Amino acid sequence: MDRRNFLRAAVKSIIAAAAAGVAAVAAYFMYPANVRARQLIYCECMDEDSLPKHGVKRAEYRFELKGKEMTAAVYLVNHEGTLYALSPVCSHLGCLVNYNRHTDVFICPCHGGKYDTAGEVISGPPPAPLARLPMKVENGRVYIGVMLPAVAA
Ligand code: FES
Repeated sequence: MDRRNFLRAAVKSIIAAAAAGVAAVAAYFMYPANVRARQLIYCECMDEDSLPKHGVKRAEYRFELKGKEMTAAVYLVNHEGTLYALSPVCSHLGCLVNYNRHTDVFICPCHGGKYDTAGEVISGPPPAPLARLPMKVENGRVYIGVMLPAVAA
C-alpha cells in the first residue's frame, strides 16, 4: 500500500468512527433513560376464540409493576381480516378514548379528539394516531405486549 492509499484508508476509518460516535450520542439524547432501559413483556388477555370476527372489541389485561397488580385496557380490531391491538391512550394528553359503535369512531372525552378504527386522527387536537400495541397468539391465547421499566441488575 502506497502512502496515498494509506492516507485514504486512514481518513475513511476516521470518518466512519466519527459517524458511529455521532449516531451513538444522538441515540443517547433522543431516548430518555427510562425508555432506553425498558423491556417488552407479553400479558395474557383473552382466548383466541374471543377475538372480534369484525369490528372493535374492548378487553383488559393485567401485569405487575413495582410489586403492584395493574389492569390496562386495549381495543382489539378486526378490519377486513387484519387483526391489531390499539392503545386507548389519546396521543394528545393521555386521556382514555372510548369506542362509539354507532359512529365507528374512537372519541376522547377530554378535548374531543376523534380517531378512526385504524387509530388515525380524524379531528381534534391529537397530534398522532393511537399506538398499535404488540400482540401475539400462542396456544389459543391472545397476549398484548407492554413496555415496562427494566429491572435493575
Ligand atoms: S387528551 Fe384526548 S383530545 Fe386531549
